[in-house]
Amino acid sequence: MPAPDAGSPGDPALGAMVVSAEELSSRIAQMGKEITADYAGRSPLLVGVLKGAFMFMADLARSIALPIEFDFMAVSSYGSATKTSGVVRIVKDLDLDLTGRHVLLVEDLVDSGLTLQYLRKNLAARGPASLEVCALLVREGLQKADTQLRYVGFRIPPDFVVGYGLDVGERYRNLPYICVYAGEVPH
Ligand code: IMP
Ligand code: MG
Repeated sequence: MPAPDAGSPGDPALGAMVVSAEELSSRIAQMGKEITADYAGRSPLLVGVLKGAFMFMADLARSIALPIEFDFMAVSSYGSATKTSGVVRIVKDLDLDLTGRHVLLVEDLVDSGLTLQYLRKNLAARGPASLEVCALLVREGLQKADTQLRYVGFRIPPDFVVGYGLDVGERYRNLPYICVYAGEVPH
């Protein structure tokens, strides 16, 4: 059954479809299979970056047939609402110890790569046995930082997007698909 549209009917702020619900579910199922094969015999720890990655993390986890564990961290980046400065503040830290764990960092969208660069460095310093990154979306273009992404869902054009966890001013996270945000983006 299709989920109801989170925007008001005909919300003029919602633009073209970028990734449909069907595309999300089939690609995420593939990613889960790949992760299941790559981590066979191990018990990876999925680390989700709140809030944007919550929906992706939930669906991805259900397509991984391994005894996984979860943790979450929340970060906020200094700078404008839509451009990351690379200076990241940890709003909520992890509960679990990463020492000796196979950590898979789950991100919603990699744009400049600066948030990810900070997180990778921060998590690597905690002594995990391995550290890989799984990003649902990567914005096409030159990432300012070297991102070394192990798993990527979709490469998307430069437009600002919302839905499936991604917001503008905390709205639209519950859209079951990802579309262009055609309204005014706060700076
Ligand atoms: P980066 O540090 O430039 O890679 O920024 C990545 C973060 O900025 C993502 O995790 C999102 O939270 C946010 N972000 C970047 N582009 C978008 C977008 O188009 N829609 C919603 N959030 C975005
Ligand atoms: Mg984010």
